[in-house]
Amino acid sequence: MDLLEHQAQELFAKHGVPVSRSRVATTPDEARTAAAELGGRVVVKAQVRTGGRGKAGGVRLADGPDAAREVAAAILGMDIKGHTVRKVLVAEASEIVDEYYVSLLLDRSSRAFLALASAQGGVDIEQVAAETPDALARRQVDPAGGIGWESALRLATEAALPADVRGDVADLLVRLWAMFREEDATLVEINPLARLADGTVRALDGKVTLDDNARFRQAGHPRFVDVSATDPLEAAAAERHLNYVKLDGEVGVIGNGAGLVMSTLDVVARAGEQYGGVKPANFLDIGGGASAEVMANGLEIILGDPAVRSVLVNVFGGITACDAVANGIVQAVGLLTSRGEPITKPLVVRLDGNNAAEGRRILAQAALGGVRTEDTMDGAARLAAALAGKGA
Ligand SMILES: Nc1ncnc2c1ncn2[C@@H]1O[C@H](COP(=O)(O)OP(=O)(O)OP(=O)(O)O)[C@@H](O)[C@H]1O
Ligand SMILES: [Mg+2]
Repeated sequence: MDLLEHQAQELFAKHGVPVSRSRVATTPDEARTAAAELGGRVVVKAQVRTGGRGKAGGVRLADGPDAAREVAAAILGMDIKGHTVRKVLVAEASEIVDEYYVSLLLDRSSRAFLALASAQGGVDIEQVAAETPDALARRQVDPAGGIGWESALRLATEAALPADVRGDVADLLVRLWAMFREEDATLVEINPLARLADGTVRALDGKVTLDDNARFRQAGHPRFVDVSATDPLEAAAAERHLNYVKLDGEVGVIGNGAGLVMSTLDVVARAGEQYGGVKPANFLDIGGGASAEVMANGLEIILGDPAVRSVLVNVFGGITACDAVANGIVQAVGLLTSRGEPITKPLVVRLDGNNAAEGRRILAQAALGGVRTEDTMDGAARLAAALAGKGA
């Protein structure tokens, strides 16, 4: 989960990383009030999960409350790389002398945590990294030991930060590591880390990515989730603990096992080429033990997508045999009918593997309206695509 800048700033403050005083505003009037409370010059900053806000006109200075209201009115509603600005951060403006860069991240390619620092911070750090990689100092961080003060100081020195700020930057890196570890982050980046006129350093911008796999032990993190940005079907699926990803097509797909579902998506997309470019509508892996309830929940989510015109259930019987899955489908159809949501779109079922024949027999015997079986994955994909075909 990527945080907005103001959320990153909140975590910085919690862990003792120096930040500017600031307020969040969702209307120009709120921005005016915020600026009045902060006093003096402020900077109004678009809160969107994308980079390059400043260059897009989403970071602007304002001399006082009235100017802050005006600037906020211009920034709110702006589109920055496809992200609509719904909130701004109003922060006290700092007298910046220098802009540095520091970050901590999980580097999957080197299977290690890395600490990075550069004396050339600011808005063009990507360019610095690409053109003069030596300007970006890096050190591996031992996951157990973390980054100690000595090691942080060495990093600041290697980054050629001015001697008189290295100690403060080392302090900050030690706190940043504590935040990184305690909050289960995979990225914490400060750019710019500004040196102010009084010689102190301060985080003026922050990018933080939290590890969603650690959410079970981070009671404070759900508040960072942006509900408005989450697809409602994905949110409903997550509530039911389903592995569901919404896609753009018309054929709903349910399978057991991520690999099988992935290949089903390919086969459906391929088959769909003959039927006006029909594509899979989703990824849904119901996993190993496909109970009737899981099957019903999965079908309910998929059928709740108005774009879906047909559904393909592709199951390879393993530990959970096909007869159990077939019974699950029969019960799921009954369950949905009893929930007042009978299946109104055609369902194609392909069962293979353990007890496939028995599974097919169960489905044939149940003679569910709208449910058809196919013996092969290709055949099932073709039928599902044909049923979803434009003009079908
Ligand atoms: N509180 C502040 N006071 C003075 N200047 C600021 C302040 N915050 C940001 N700035 C200036 O604005 C520039 C851009 O701000 P910031 O880094 O927050 O956005 P950005 O880098 O354009 O956005 P992104 O991080 O999305 O690419 C900074 O490099 C800094 O010069
Ligand atoms: Mg920045």
